[in-house]
Amino acid sequence: MRLTSWAERTAERLLPPLGDRWSHVRQVAEQARQVARVVPEGDSDLLVAAAYLHDIGYSPALVVTGFHPLDGARWIRDQGQDPRLARLVGHHSCARYEAQVRGLLDVLLAEFAPEDSATYDALVFCDMTTGPTGKIVALEQRIEDIYQRYGPDHEVSRALDSSRPCLTACHDRTAARLTELTHLADIRGLMPHKVVLDA
Ligand SMILES: [Fe+2]
Repeated sequence: MRLTSWAERTAERLLPPLGDRWSHVRQVAEQARQVARVVPEGDSDLLVAAAYLHDIGYSPALVVTGFHPLDGARWIRDQGQDPRLARLVGHHSCARYEAQVRGLLDVLLAEFAPEDSATYDALVFCDMTTGPTGKIVALEQRIEDIYQRYGPDHEVSRALDSSRPCLTACHDRTAARLTELTHLADIRGLMPHKVVLDA
């Protein structure tokens, strides 16, 4: 839990002035604590830490390029933290598609290698099932809300057109892992832990 403690303290220091963003991040971290059961045991701490820090690049103190996954990942890297934490943040929620729209894909890939793992999928799941004020929402509602908030011409909305299959795949793989785990708990006669799936 060492990494999570540092990430939580860091998020508490940098995100509360952003209001709803901080509410969103706290719920993403709560989702991550629940969903951590479907990632390798050694990755639980990393997943929750990444949940706390995935939007840290929105902090005005950290903005350099204005592309928050990259700004956040660079800052985490420069703190000397786990390189995987920086990579997960740099690529969270299929960020490579927005990087492409912004002309930053080469930069992102040169500095942070993408990770294909259950842990990455779970981070995407947690972010994409948590609305902008911290309410649990379905993936489709989350995507629709992003279109509405940013408008059709914004880089975020334009990236969504191409990132949607990636987001859906990460979400669905995580949901399937959660369902499988719940099923296994059922057939063993165990009480499954609370699972926060889509509303
Ligand atoms: Fe987020």
